[in-house]
Amino acid sequence: MLASFSKVFSAFYIWRASRRISIEKVIISSQQVPSEFSGFRIALLTDFHGRTLEPAGEAFREISHFMPDIICLGGDYVNSHPLQAERLRPMLRKLSELAPTYAVSGNHDHRAGWSKLSSLLSECGAYVLANSHVVIEKAGAKLCLAGVNDPASGHDDLKAALFSAPQEPTICIAHSPSWFVHRQNTLPPQVFLVLAGHTHGGQIKLPLIGAVTNATGMLFPRRLVEGLSREGHTWLYINRGLGYTKVPIRFMSPAEITLITLNMSSGEAESKIEGGK
Ligand SMILES: [Fe+2]
Repeated sequence: MLASFSKVFSAFYIWRASRRISIEKVIISSQQVPSEFSGFRIALLTDFHGRTLEPAGEAFREISHFMPDIICLGGDYVNSHPLQAERLRPMLRKLSELAPTYAVSGNHDHRAGWSKLSSLLSECGAYVLANSHVVIEKAGAKLCLAGVNDPASGHDDLKAALFSAPQEPTICIAHSPSWFVHRQNTLPPQVFLVLAGHTHGGQIKLPLIGAVTNATGMLFPRRLVEGLSREGHTWLYINRGLGYTKVPIRFMSPAEITLITLNMSSGEAESKIEGGK
């Protein structure tokens, strides 16, 4: 009797932990941030895999209260079929109403049918950055926002994304940090921040060991699983994502929404994860 109770309790605990969304607040300090963009706010959501946010729910309220200047979507809207994205429509519309929303593709989206998903994102008001960029202006200063198609499946083209882009401080959205690992030395110096997902933060972690995999086939990865790191001249932030793949659970790796604030600073070391909840 006690054994069955403990099994049910464990299953309930894992199910609840798998549904929990952690809100991470991050400060990116860089001397490349123009003073006009100091305090600029970015909400980063990625790896939905069909999971949506209730527009009236608590997670959505946290994003609204943050009052983002832009919202970045890092790809993997579905697992395997574009129809799975239909349930994301109300959330995508609401996000686009809240702030200009920019979206890139993930590896699952290319497998499922990126052209259909890309159309759905546009219909909901998001701007799709498919190896392309936009220039954001504020009080006469400029910031470039580039987005590449998923690097893990080889659909990225950073050169095309930055073609004819002004030499302004640049943020790059790339679904997978594995792309970053392989090509960090080719990132032009104006790219001061890369926003990624893909790894699910390992999705399942083991006590004392950490992530079992980082979704790139590497077992027990030591780095590039989640969070903030300095890679050469660039900051990299890896969001753990909202959904899951293969097994419908998360363990010690809660789903995440990242709320990022840019800070003009002479000290790059001031960048930090401020806290989460
Ligand atoms: Fe994913």
